[in-house]
Amino acid sequence: MTALAQKRILVTGGSGFLGSHLCDRLLDAGHQVICLDDFSTGSASNVEHRIGHPNFTLLEQDVALALSPASLAVDQIYNLACPASPVHYQRDPVRTTRTIVLGALNMLDLARATGARILQASTSEVYGDPEVHPQIEPYWGHVNPVGLRACYDEGKRCAESLFFDYHRQYGVSVKVVRIFNTYGPRMQVGDGRVMSNFIVQALRGEPLTVYGRGQQTRSFCHVSDLVEAMIRMMNSDAAFTGPVNIGNPVEVTMLALAERILCLAGSVSGITYLPAPADDPARRRPDITLAHRHLGWTPSVDLDCGVAQTVAWFRHALAAEACDGVHGRHGSDAARSGDTALNVDPSGVHADVGRVSP
Ligand SMILES: NC(=O)c1ccc[n+]([C@@H]2O[C@H](COP(=O)([O-])OP(=O)(O)OC[C@H]3O[C@@H](n4cnc5c(N)ncnc54)[C@H](O)[C@@H]3O)[C@@H](O)[C@H]2O)c1
Repeated sequence: MTALAQKRILVTGGSGFLGSHLCDRLLDAGHQVICLDDFSTGSASNVEHRIGHPNFTLLEQDVALALSPASLAVDQIYNLACPASPVHYQRDPVRTTRTIVLGALNMLDLARATGARILQASTSEVYGDPEVHPQIEPYWGHVNPVGLRACYDEGKRCAESLFFDYHRQYGVSVKVVRIFNTYGPRMQVGDGRVMSNFIVQALRGEPLTVYGRGQQTRSFCHVSDLVEAMIRMMNSDAAFTGPVNIGNPVEVTMLALAERILCLAGSVSGITYLPAPADDPARRRPDITLAHRHLGWTPSVDLDCGVAQTVAWFRHALAAEACDGVHGRHGSDAARSGDTALNVDPSGVHADVGRVSP
């Protein structure tokens, strides 16, 4: 890569599930990457294999605290720092709002001071429990502003509004992606997301917990597809600011997903039904027409292949965790030692992951 093409890129939340895959892709493309993280929900072990790489810097820092622009002159900022699973973001909801809103302000100020382009990892949760299906970007959403999920949903909505105000008021080059459920290697064992919950329960021989009657739907995007879309969005025409939906439009009920995971994991665990939690969206599916039109992007990893790969990764993570005798460690910590045995590349993604044509 020529010095001209090489960029200095800041990834906040870079040691988390999505951020660590993004760092890998950017480093592999020859860029300089600064990974900023406070390790509150992510793990340094997700990026451990990059420590010592000449283009990689790991910075322990709370994104909600102001940064000196002089020390962080960058060309691009991906703002991902934020607890993403309900278990994590509801543990300290005030801190969640602080992280999202002050984090956005700090990163936007940095972008303004340095002239960097900045991308916000927003979320399908800005649509709340949607009355429009599938969700299209012009839909304003149906969010309970005082519920348990509001710290995350309203925080992300506020961050989006800040991004567009910085764009209009100060001319900052902004990009906003609304990420729908994403899954893959390096999800955490105990983070309470449906995909990791089901897989871990199936592998431990515990009944899979389905809420309500399991008829609520979600759509799942493989992490490699998501990272591809984020990079395309960051480098797309400046006039295309988003917000743009990024997700896989294949919709699946939670009951069907549970049954599929049992089958792919070869598990005889049953299914147990619990009451649906408050404000749990009934349906979730992105309309990705805009992403296709502006970014030429559609997801390519088939759900069965992606889930089978993720099951294999968790199987190894749990085995390594049991070996270590360390409870509560992240799956990614445990899995590292097994990367070679699993034939997993450093990005944590099997080379042979199945893809379907767009
Ligand atoms: N994974 C998904 O399905 C999904 C869906 C929608 C949106 N998102 C968004 O994508 C981003 C990444 O999600 P993820 O799934 O990788 O979650 P994650 O929890 O694995 O990663 C988030 C990272 O941010 C770090 N972080 C949290 N608070 C911080 C703070 N105050 N200062 C610095 N670092 C902090 C954590 O330590 C962690 O490494 C989040 O912004 C999330 O809202 C994810």
